[in-house]
Amino acid sequence: MSVSRPTLVLAPMRGVTTLYYRQAFVQHFAGLDCVMAPFIPTVSAERINPKLLKEVLPENNGDLPLIPQLISNNADDFVQMAVALADLGYDEVNLNMGCPHKPIRKKRRGSGLLPHPDLVEALLDPICARSPIKVSVKVRLGVADKSELLKLVPVLNRFPLSEIIVHPRTAEQMYDGSVDLDAFAEVVAALTLPVCYNGDIGSLAFYQNVQHRFPAIHRFMLGRGLLANPFLCEEIKGIDSSVEHIQRITAFHDDLVGRYEAVLHGDYSVLGKMKEFWIYQTRHLSNGSKMFKKLKKAQRLSTYKEIVCEFLSAAEWVRPV
Ligand SMILES: Cc1cc2nc3c(=O)[nH]c(=O)nc-3n(C[C@H](O)[C@H](O)[C@H](O)COP(=O)(O)O)c2cc1C
Repeated sequence: MSVSRPTLVLAPMRGVTTLYYRQAFVQHFAGLDCVMAPFIPTVSAERINPKLLKEVLPENNGDLPLIPQLISNNADDFVQMAVALADLGYDEVNLNMGCPHKPIRKKRRGSGLLPHPDLVEALLDPICARSPIKVSVKVRLGVADKSELLKLVPVLNRFPLSEIIVHPRTAEQMYDGSVDLDAFAEVVAALTLPVCYNGDIGSLAFYQNVQHRFPAIHRFMLGRGLLANPFLCEEIKGIDSSVEHIQRITAFHDDLVGRYEAVLHGDYSVLGKMKEFWIYQTRHLSNGSKMFKKLKKAQRLSTYKEIVCEFLSAAEWVRPV
């Protein structure tokens, strides 16, 4: 049995794991080792500015190590952005080759690069030669065909990439169906680079299953499952808390809503963010689906807060299995 402690990374989720979410999360929950910020599309050097980099400015982020992520198919722009990130103090940048959204992949960015080993090689060659900081890559199994990533592996192996984060679904699956651990096993066997597992880790049992099957993997990225069960990293690391689950979720929620109220203008924007928050956070509440139905209809922040208060005071935590 492996005794080494895993490295647990918060997955980037654009619009959801915002800097405000990340700031609040680490105040209330332990066990994360690192966070990856949602992707920033690369732009040409003269258009790089603090507004574009706001999500990753060190003053907006705490002590937990952060890896910025870029989405790009332009090596020059990527390298210039990597230079800007190096100036901010970062020592690693991630290239998103997994985004499944059609408009992105049609432009051969995100997962749209996966079926094109020649394009990936032409992109990584100058990036790896000129980036002043380490480069890692986040991938899926392919667009429609699960063997695409396997065909890309010999290209990836040729570069000194610091890590390959694999989410074993195709882009066409989006987030549906299950992750393919057999396909993941084939990719792991073929890669000579360090691998991080990502996908569907939502309970201690699921994590242990992946960990037992792949004892050589020590890095795990957690997204939706951690958002639904924010205690998961603590459970994985065996960190105990004496404070009751619903009480901790309530404190986290109140903190987050306060942060959004301080920076967003008007009820509508804050409600938009908080409704997205509850898509995940209601999953393990005994009255979660009723609560979500009701709060989706709220038009005013005051009504929303009354609904949250009413439901949370009656909620019970349903342990994920
Ligand atoms: C709303 C949403 C936004 C996402 N944004 C990003 C992103 O900016 N960059 C990225 O690499 N992946 C993004 N992802 C994918 C997640 O990082 C992760 O790979 C995926 O959710 C699978 O992991 P999970 O099952 O632990 O959630 C996003 C996923 C969702 C649902």
